[in-house]
Amino acid sequence: MKIIMADNAGFCFGVKRAMDIVNNEINNIDGKLYSYGPLIHNPQVVDSLEQKGLKAIKDLSKINEGKIIIRSHGIPKYEEDKMIDLKLSIVDCTCPYVKAVHKRVENYMNKGYNIVIIGNSKHPEVIGINGWCNNKALIVENIKSVEQLPFMDKVCVVAQTTITKEKFDTISKEIKAKASIVEIFNTICKATKERQESAATVAKISDAMVVIGGYKSSNTLKLVEISKKYCKNVFHIETIKDLPLQEVLKFNTIGITAGASTPDWIIKEAIETMDNLNNNEMMEAIESSFTQI
Ligand code: F3S
Repeated sequence: MKIIMADNAGFCFGVKRAMDIVNNEINNIDGKLYSYGPLIHNPQVVDSLEQKGLKAIKDLSKINEGKIIIRSHGIPKYEEDKMIDLKLSIVDCTCPYVKAVHKRVENYMNKGYNIVIIGNSKHPEVIGINGWCNNKALIVENIKSVEQLPFMDKVCVVAQTTITKEKFDTISKEIKAKASIVEIFNTICKATKERQESAATVAKISDAMVVIGGYKSSNTLKLVEISKKYCKNVFHIETIKDLPLQEVLKFNTIGITAGASTPDWIIKEAIETMDNLNNNEMMEAIESSFTQI
């Protein structure tokens, strides 16, 4: 069995940056430390941070002191304002690429543009972006929802950072017919693009693909979708415990990729477990062939 690791996989720049900031806060903890929502879409990481003193909260009205971490997905402006009103000390871990989208939609809204976000309306990043243009953005999830857009005078189009380029290109092309002036900004993050391209490259030459990452992680789900396009046997796991090892080890070539919020130790553990099992099986096969002689 051969294991091929995708060139670009695991923590992206924004998640790594957020983790570094948070670990630094944890090491110097002095008082209460909260994250507004789980820091990243990876339950194993969130659990380990909680054990170190970082408490994820959903409702700001439940707290009135301490430090609050804004996660890499970012939050709407009105929520940030609420934190300021509550006099919480804010540690902003919004990924700079996401922050740039906040600034862009705010700027174009002020210039009288309608804002269209191509992405998943329920994803925290999209909810956050919408919150920087007074929650008035039109959110387009698929090509069908473009038909429902009204004809507009001026429109500014941005994307959730983790959607596929294919989806962005198809939808933004259709939106061009929906306004007199259309400004299109491809705000898909480079890290996402690189991870998606690497996943496709590996999936094309693998008999099975193992995609490691949170079951709710949007960028991991995209990697699963892309892998399925090129490979018949795709296994989405959060940790090695979720992988049906005996089934996977039947394949000759196994490709591995991981979402942007999957830490190195989870990837390493998965590869080492597969490697060890494979070596043991090889040893058993060699031993049994000696026995037959
Ligand atoms: Fe930022 Fe891109 Fe990661 S937007 S959080 S570097 S996927």
